[in-house]
Amino acid sequence: MQYRRLGSSGLQLSALSFGAWVTFGNKVGRGAAREMIAAAWDHGVNFFDNAEAYANGEAERVMGDAIADLRLPRDGFCVSSKVFFGAVREPRPTQKGLSRKHVVDACHDALRRLRVDYLDLYFCHRPDPDTPIEETVRAMDGLVQQGKVLYWGTSEWSAAQIREAHKIARLRNLQPPTMEQPQYNLLHRERVELEYAPLYAEFGMGTTVWSPLASGLLTGKYNNGVRSEGRLAQDGYGWLQRMVIGESKERRIERARKFTALARELGLAPAPLAIAWCLRNPHVSTVMLGASRAEQLAENLEALAVLERLDDAAWKRLEAATAA
Ligand SMILES: NC(=O)c1ccc[n+]([C@@H]2O[C@H](COP(=O)([O-])OP(=O)(O)OC[C@H]3O[C@@H](n4cnc5c(N)ncnc54)[C@H](OP(=O)(O)O)[C@@H]3O)[C@@H](O)[C@H]2O)c1
Repeated sequence: MQYRRLGSSGLQLSALSFGAWVTFGNKVGRGAAREMIAAAWDHGVNFFDNAEAYANGEAERVMGDAIADLRLPRDGFCVSSKVFFGAVREPRPTQKGLSRKHVVDACHDALRRLRVDYLDLYFCHRPDPDTPIEETVRAMDGLVQQGKVLYWGTSEWSAAQIREAHKIARLRNLQPPTMEQPQYNLLHRERVELEYAPLYAEFGMGTTVWSPLASGLLTGKYNNGVRSEGRLAQDGYGWLQRMVIGESKERRIERARKFTALARELGLAPAPLAIAWCLRNPHVSTVMLGASRAEQLAENLEALAVLERLDDAAWKRLEAATAA
């Protein structure tokens, strides 16, 4: 495993980490979740990502129980939660968003479900137009001061919103956000590479990036249409299918086909190649993997080996093949 600093902080996360979205508490039962966390840990993974919203809190329960069962040393791993969407099906106004009340309540709930005394990373899962950024920065700072959160950050905030949070923190002497959690993959790269470009040096911002396989599209499993067993065909995920496949003019399936054809030419499995591509960006602190089966996770963990194997010419071919 390779370890990378979370931006300019002293926290070293494994370059490959493991998250629970869609899988834990849904398709992935307790036994499989435990098996995958054990495999990831044995491979050197030290960061496990979660959120209040994943399976309405059940993903955190499953992860917390697995980590406790496996007796992982608390000082050896990092675990996260995210607040915003709420952990119930129809949240009331105080059960969602980034108000001081919900940020604090959600933190306490995550600590209980994950069975830990503190969260290593705590994210604002989206910006909240109904809460002043200052209120959220103050709430996060309070949790940091109380030792309930070590590093706080944002997920899919605009560069302007992140800047605003830093400005408030500096002015009021509060803990600023350390990291952002954006989507990043071969088909979705503008925010990480362009919009956030000035923020890395300006704030020492770290990134924990999500959906390196574009929810499986880059494995080639949807090259001939949405098959029944994949994530995009799951009940209740029509919105995700529309988002991932996009409109025909975006040519996302066509680009995925070209990518998987090139992977085959290079003699590589598409999934670790797509993940290795994310790892090439030095502003990526950790690439968060998702898997619905242990075999997928094992394949994806090969990404670091792929990164070492390929030369610049191969990466150039890949960029050309997948260009928008
Ligand atoms: N902050 C946010 O808003 C946000 C959003 C999304 C995710 N996340 C975090 O990022 C983590 C990773 O994101 P993601 O799960 O979307 O990652 P991803 O790698 O893009 O998608 C993972 C899914 O792709 C399929 N897959 C994975 N490896 C495969 C392989 N080798 N061969 C074939 N299929 C494979 C599996 O689904 P099927 O087998 O069901 O097809 C798996 O669940 C999440 O778990 C979560 O912690 C954060």
